[in-house]
Amino acid sequence: MNNIIELKNINKYYKMKTLNLHALKSINIGIKQGDFLMIMGKSGSGKTTLMNILGFLDSFDNGKYIFNGKDVTGLNENEKSELRNEYIGFIFQQFHLIDSLTIGQNVELPLLYKGDIPVKERNLLVDKYLNLVGLLDKKNRKPSELSGGQQQRIAIARALINNPYVIFADEPTGALDSSTGTDIMELLTALNKENKTIIMVTHDEDLKKYANKVIHIKDGVIEKVE
Ligand SMILES: Nc1ncnc2c1ncn2[C@@H]1O[C@H](COP(=O)(O)OP(=O)(O)OP(=O)(O)O)[C@@H](O)[C@H]1O
Ligand SMILES: [Mg+2]
Repeated sequence: MNNIIELKNINKYYKMKTLNLHALKSINIGIKQGDFLMIMGKSGSGKTTLMNILGFLDSFDNGKYIFNGKDVTGLNENEKSELRNEYIGFIFQQFHLIDSLTIGQNVELPLLYKGDIPVKERNLLVDKYLNLVGLLDKKNRKPSELSGGQQQRIAIARALINNPYVIFADEPTGALDSSTGTDIMELLTALNKENKTIIMVTHDEDLKKYANKVIHIKDGVIEKVE
């Protein structure tokens, strides 16, 4: 099967007043549709930097990025945000839900960014994905009224609503106790079985078992691939 994502010789520098920090060094990665990839490494090793580049949230300095067969190196901000809306869902450690909105409105947000979807269709999709994560009954509640695990499920529903090719998760269980974290990993595994590509960052060696591929990164270099 073809790679959905290919990075070729990617380098990333953070340019600061007095120094340039070489955050990613000649990174080469191939990710296939349906992979469950984990990116592991110590704090400061470059995991989030790599994830942000893969998810079109940040740029890189040289190298080549092929996404879904298309060279996406050097796209402008508008083109990148279109790709994000169309193909990518994000899940974060701290959920990033908006507390002034209801659960239903939070899940609906990516559809509003996409535009041109009639309200009836939006409602059907919100209900479908809230149901998928088992929280349809919370639709009119506020995020702060839910547990951490429930909030992460809502964030997963929000990540799924655009039917993305790839889900990026940066420490999705990092703010949860271990049994709630296991529930979230099982939900991600179920999505992966339906051929969603999942790319997850974690510190937690115990979570390696959920992945079919693990990339270890150290000081901006891929040290080992399992
Ligand atoms: N916006 C930035 N400006 C300058 N340096 C940065 C910036 N973001 C990250 N860095 C540096 O780049 C390196 C990699 O950071 P990154 O956030 O990718 O690490 P990480 O592996 O995600 O760490 P953690 O496990 O703590 O989240 C670190 O040395 C960090 O200090
Ligand atoms: Mg990080």
